[in-house]
Amino acid sequence: MSVITCIEDLRVLARKRVPRMFYDYVDSGSWTEGTYRANAADFDRLKLRQRVALNIEQRSTRTTMAGIEAAMPVAIAPTGMTGMQHADGEILAAKAAEKFGIPFTLSTMSICSIEDIAAATGSPFWFQLYVMRDRDFMARLIDRAKAANCSALVLTLDLQIIGQRHKDLRNGLSVPPKPTLANLANMATKPRWCMGMLGTKRRNFGNVFGHVKGIETMRSLSEWTNRQFDPTLSWADVDWIRRRWGGRLILKGIQDVEDARLAVDSGADALIVSNHGGRQLDGAPSSISALPVIAEAVGHRIEVHMDGGIRSGQDVLKARALGARGVYIGRSMLYGLGAMGEAGVTRALQIIHRELDLTMAFCGHTDIDKVDARVLCA
Ligand code: GLV
Repeated sequence: MSVITCIEDLRVLARKRVPRMFYDYVDSGSWTEGTYRANAADFDRLKLRQRVALNIEQRSTRTTMAGIEAAMPVAIAPTGMTGMQHADGEILAAKAAEKFGIPFTLSTMSICSIEDIAAATGSPFWFQLYVMRDRDFMARLIDRAKAANCSALVLTLDLQIIGQRHKDLRNGLSVPPKPTLANLANMATKPRWCMGMLGTKRRNFGNVFGHVKGIETMRSLSEWTNRQFDPTLSWADVDWIRRRWGGRLILKGIQDVEDARLAVDSGADALIVSNHGGRQLDGAPSSISALPVIAEAVGHRIEVHMDGGIRSGQDVLKARALGARGVYIGRSMLYGLGAMGEAGVTRALQIIHRELDLTMAFCGHTDIDKVDARVLCA
């Protein structure tokens, strides 16, 4: 294997090692994938100001996100079916994040359960919640996250309905995988992945399976999830969830200034400028282009985070410059996981950290908390 130098190297390796239906689930956006591509491409348009002859010897990327200490302003994004990229994927990613000292967010639609992560790690993690029609089940999920000592609830607001991703339709994506000839033939070319999956019992949606009546078979589970995302979601639900949870609340999926103001009014601690990695409304602006307007309008009243398109430490610095206190990585983490398991996630974090640290230095900065818009060329 050649030397891993950047996130793109991890992506190439993950594509070799992960069955196509699961690799494609990650490396795709909805419809034309225009927003998915813009998320990364718009970072490239921002140029950095090089400074020289400033003392840059002692540097720190340490900061806080939602009041929680982080070794750099990066958290692991909640991503669905992470345990299908690699056996026990969420556990491995959570361990890598814990060792690195950054927040890990577990998705509602994870393969490993809330309890699995709590048992495998020592520090509190964050839990992401979808608003589901079954409010009793949601209430139980909130209580399980509390019992697991989760230190923040990340409430996703942009998935009341699901965006169409062409590759998933073509691949017949399902959990567990559909045993079609094409899927089986493709899996046979991924021996590492198969060995891992044979060695774990976690091959279904761990937060759901066994916790909802009537989910005894795989078929009824997928039907249930398709039916569950709630198109009637409103700010009244956000209020109900905030009260029930009672801890730090982060609202994910804000793209518009009006919604950002409503997020402030809701009493949340932070919001995430996000278009769901370009997987929901194709045609929406990239997250990095939506960020400055929102940060300018509400950044003094609520902590602003962002996700979408972060593939390097330079992207982290640029997001920080435009008003994000911190960012989330989904695909950059998943490529590492698919490529090399926990070691791959650690490698992704090391790559991003080093790029961030060196870029900060080239720009004449030693403290991430002092970086502002002046780090960018006008
Ligand atoms: C779920 O969050 C997805 O984007 O598939």
